[in-house]
Amino acid sequence: MSDPVMAQKGPYSLDVEAGTTYWWCSCGRSASQPFCDGSHKGTDFTPMEWTAPRTRKVHFCGCKQALNKPMCDGTHGKI
Ligand code: FES
Repeated sequence: MSDPVMAQKGPYSLDVEAGTTYWWCSCGRSASQPFCDGSHKGTDFTPMEWTAPRTRKVHFCGCKQALNKPMCDGTHGKI
């Protein structure tokens, strides 16, 4: 599998709503970061489905290399 593109070296902090499903971009090519816009077509990547367990602010991974995808886990600080 090829490496994802780093969309940004840090998280996207957004408010999410409980019960809403989000499609996190795993390839890094989407113009609608941190979400999928279909740009992964033709790559090895597919978006990751994530449903918010509660309404709150979350930090989606922007570097695309978090071990705890789709959330930032600080991995961006080591790359
Ligand atoms: S932005 Fe990827 S781990 Fe923080």
